Amino acid sequence: MEKTLVIVKPGAIQRGLIGEVIHRFERKGLQLCGMKMIQLTDEILIEHYAHLAQRSFFKRIKDSMMITPVIVCCWKGLDAVHIVHEMAGKTNGREAAQGTIRGDFSVSVQENIIHTSDTLENAKVELARFFSNDEIFDFEQSGLNFLYANNEI
Ligand code: PPS
Repeated sequence: MEKTLVIVKPGAIQRGLIGEVIHRFERKGLQLCGMKMIQLTDEILIEHYAHLAQRSFFKRIKDSMMITPVIVCCWKGLDAVHIVHEMAGKTNGREAAQGTIRGDFSVSVQENIIHTSDTLENAKVELARFFSNDEIFDFEQSGLNFLYANNEI
């Protein structure tokens, strides 16, 4: 089973979309293994968005991520990284397909509701960035037999 990171961004917090986002991943069958509200800082965002440091919007996206606290979540499941990334939809909410989270709730590239890890390697790094080991809970998900065939898990 894979684990992946979701950050519910300040825009979604202000618009009252926390429950909607969590509801979608829960209904899909993913398991919530960790969740907390945190205030992001410049330091952690410089690290998190290091790959965007040379982009013109670097300061703007950092600032937007600090306007309110965010919710960070760890979701677990078979192929969870790919599933969560696909459920978020394209980065640009105006181009994201209807039925995806951004397609349904965003009309912006920056104000795109959630951040999701894009690869398993990045998911491991990003989860370690925002969670300590004792904040991730490895308990058994009930009803696994109804979510997966027994040759899948
Ligand atoms: S990239 O490098 O632009 O291709 O990466 P992408 O995965 O599409 O986007 C990475 C994050 O950068 C944000 N982004 C922007 N913010 C403001 N303005 C512009 N033009 C812009 N382009 C990309 C985008 O919201 C992504 O944030 P996260 O938190 O990863 O969703």
